[in-house]
Amino acid sequence: MNQPILFNFPKTSSLGQHLQEKLNAEEGRFLRYSFPDGETYLRIESDVKGREIFINATLFHPNSWILDLLFLADTLRTLEAKSIKLIAPYLSYMRQDKVFQEGEALTSKTFSHLLSAYFDALITVDPHLHRYHCLSQIYTIPTTVLQAAPLISEWIHENVENPFLIGPDEESRQWVQEVAGDLPFIVLQKERNSQGQVKISWPSFKGGEGKTPVFVDDIISSGGTMLLAIEQAKALGLKLPVIVAIHPIFANDSYEKLKNAGVLKIVTCNSIPHSSNVIDLAPLIVSTLK
Ligand code: R5P
Repeated sequence: MNQPILFNFPKTSSLGQHLQEKLNAEEGRFLRYSFPDGETYLRIESDVKGREIFINATLFHPNSWILDLLFLADTLRTLEAKSIKLIAPYLSYMRQDKVFQEGEALTSKTFSHLLSAYFDALITVDPHLHRYHCLSQIYTIPTTVLQAAPLISEWIHENVENPFLIGPDEESRQWVQEVAGDLPFIVLQKERNSQGQVKISWPSFKGGEGKTPVFVDDIISSGGTMLLAIEQAKALGLKLPVIVAIHPIFANDSYEKLKNAGVLKIVTCNSIPHSSNVIDLAPLIVSTLK
C-alpha cells in the first residue's frame, strides 16, 4: 500500500490534523500510558510492516517527550516499517552549539546522535542554525530544512496595513530581508550578557512614520528580546507593533507580558501548539514530502 502512515505526537496537534489531510495519510494508532512509577507503556496498533511512516513530533519540552518518541521509533523498526521519518517543525537542543566553558555538555550534538540513531530522515523548519551552518554538521541522517519566510511574508502582505519590518538582531538580517521582499525593513543590534539580559540599539532610520512596525523573529523564548524591543518602539513614538515568530516557546508568563506590553497582534506558526498559532506550516511540509 502506498498511503503513508502519520503518527502525531501529541495526538491532538492542529498541525498533525492538517498534515494528515494534506498528505492523505492513514492515522498512526498507538496506545500509551504511564505506569505508577512514571515509566511508559506503548503499543502500536496500526499494521506498519512495509509502510512509509512519518512521525510529527513537537519537540517542545523535549525531555518529557524524547523517550516516548524513541520507544515509538524503535518499535516501528522492530515491526518492520519501510522507513521512519521524523517531522520536527521545532528542532530542540540547537542552542548549545558550542562548549563555552570547559566541562559543558554539547547537548546539540548528543541530541543529534540520538535522533540520527532512530530515524531515517529529519524534516524541520527554520532550526536555530547559529554556529552550525547546516544540520549535516551534527546529524548523520538526511535532513530537510524548510523556511517559513514565504508563508510569513504572505501573511504580512495580506494582513498588515502599511508594514515595515524589524529584525531584532544581526543574525536575523538575511531572514528578515527575505520576509520583507519589497517592504521596508531595519535590523537592530542585540547583545545578551551572561545573565541573559538583553541590550538593543536601533539604527537611525527614515520612513517608519505612520507605518505599522512588524517585529519578526525565529523564536520567542523568555520574551526578553521582544519585550525590550516593544518598549523601545513605544519610546520612539512608533505605532503599536505586530509580533511574528516561527517558534512560540513563550516561557513562563512571557506571552501575557507581551500582550500587556502594548501590541496590535501576536502571530506565530504552528511548529509548537499555542493559542497564537495563525500561520499553518502544513502546506510547506507537505510540499517537500510529496
Ligand atoms: C536569538 O538569536 C533568536 O533569534 C531570538 O531572538 C531569541 O532566541 C529570543 O529569545 P528570548 O525570547 O529569550 O529573548
